[in-house]
Order: sequence, then structure tokens, then C-alpha cells
Amino acid sequence: MQRSLLLLLAFVPLACKPVAEPALDDAPFSGRQLYMARCIACHQADGGGIPAICPPLADSPRLSGPPEDLIRVLLLGMKGGIARNGVTYRGIMPSWKFDLSDGQIADVINDLHARWNVTAPMVTEEMVRRTRGETAAQKLFPTAKELRLAE
Ligand code: HEC
Repeated sequence: MQRSLLLLLAFVPLACKPVAEPALDDAPFSGRQLYMARCIACHQADGGGIPAICPPLADSPRLSGPPEDLIRVLLLGMKGGIARNGVTYRGIMPSWKFDLSDGQIADVINDLHARWNVTAPMVTEEMVRRTRGETAAQKLFPTAKELRLAE
């Protein structure tokens, strides 16, 4: 009896660990980790982007604009060039529709808002699911104009 109790105690820390850790996130990767894995090469760790190629995310009007616009940019990607603070960025923004789930796209967007202190309503998995459905037939890599984004 005493021995089995000891054995039980020995397993308690192991058994508790998975419960304690994912408290930050329900997804395997948090929005920040996804940013570090998928976005950092182009937009850089500080969100400053790459001159003339990838636009900065800090101060991007897209972050303070309608969340649906942001969701569409992430789902479809974008090309054609955009001007920010007098600089034109001409790289190609990848489409994430085949790589990131609705929940992951919501996580990344919520992380962008949090990092750059943009007051915006929480983006939900459901919002991404809806926009994914609405844009399912749209071609990938539209221009900002084709997406009808505010410049
Ligand atoms: C291969 C490089 C690359 C990667 C990786 C990348 N982006 Fe981009 N992103 C771009 C480029 C280039 C543009 C601008 C496209 C254009 O000018 O049409 C852009 C545009 C954007 C915009 C619109 C900015 C604005 O001011 O209008 C957002 C938001 C954005 N990216 C977020 C992300 C997020 C979030 C990730 C990671 C999930 C990511 N990007 C990954 C290159 C990249």
C-alpha cells in the first residue's frame, strides 16, 4: 500500500505537466510562436520589415483597419506593391490558407494587435472560418486594389 502510494506520488509531477503548460494557448503554437516561425523572415522580429521588399507591420493601417481585411490578406496573400511612409514595397506576401488553420490565423492576428497596441476587437476562429468561406473562390495573390483595401 505504502509502496503504491509512493509510486503514485512519483508520477504526479509528470501527470500534472501537460495540464499546467498549455494554459497560455489551446493551439499547439501560440500567435507569437507562429509569427516567429512563419512571418519573421520577411517582416522581421521587430515588425520593421525589409526595405523596399516587405512592409513594416508596426503602424500598418491594415492592423487598425477592419479585421476582415487583415484576414483576407493572410488567407489570399498579396502582391503588386504597396506604399508605406513614402517607400514602395514590392515583395510577395504568401497565402496562408493551406498552412494555417482558422484558429491559428486568429491567433496570429490577435498577437499582431497585442504587440503593436492596436485596440481592435478580438478576432475569432469563427470570423476566419466565415471569411475563408467567402473568399474560397478568389484567386491567390490579388493586389491591394483588387482586395479593395484602404491604402
Ligand atoms: C515571403 C515574405 C513574407 C512572409 C513570410 C510574410 N509576409 Fe506579410 N507581406 C509580405 C509582403 C511583400 C507584403 C506586401 C505585399 C504587397 O506589396 O502587395 C506583405 C504584407 C503583409 C501585410 C499587409 C501590410 C500592410 O501594411 O498592408 C500584413 C498584415 C502581413 N503581411 C502579415 C503577415 C503575417 C502575419 C505573416 C506570417 C503569418 C506574414 N505576413 C508573412 C511578405 C511576407
